Amino acid sequence: MNIYPQLQDKSKKISVVGLGYVGLPLALAFARRFSVIGFDINAQRIEMMRMGEDPSRELTADAFTGCDIQFTANPDDLRQAHFHIVAVPTPVDKHKVPDLRP
Ligand SMILES: NC(=O)c1ccc[n+]([C@@H]2O[C@H](COP(=O)([O-])OP(=O)(O)OC[C@H]3O[C@@H](n4cnc5c(N)ncnc54)[C@H](O)[C@@H]3O)[C@@H](O)[C@H]2O)c1
Repeated sequence: MNIYPQLQDKSKKISVVGLGYVGLPLALAFARRFSVIGFDINAQRIEMMRMGEDPSRELTADAFTGCDIQFTANPDDLRQAHFHIVAVPTPVDKHKVPDLRP
């Protein structure tokens, strides 16, 4: 199903799960055009992002302005989204096997 038109008219939302070095800039880039749910399990990081602060200190406050994004640590909020992008850590062990638990 092509949901692009509904993403454009904001009747459907995108979520980004894991707002670190990769997830936060990605979520903010999408939030310039679409309505985004930004989810992270770390409530302290979510609190900072709500105040327009990047916990990883890569982005300035400007990156947050004009963005349509709801920052949340509540997994129930992910139900509002119809397209999910996952950017959680996947550290590898000595055999280069990723830990997929996150
Ligand atoms: N950083 C890079 O340069 C880079 C480059 C290429 C690929 N990647 C890949 O991108 C992915 C994310 O890496 P990163 O560097 O952004 O990691 P990161 O450690 O900067 O951020 C990960 C975020 O995910 C959150 N998180 C952890 N478990 C979670 C869960 N179960 N649900 C929701 N949020 C959770 C953490 O609180 C953190 O905010 C990894 O798979 C990594 O291999 C990273």
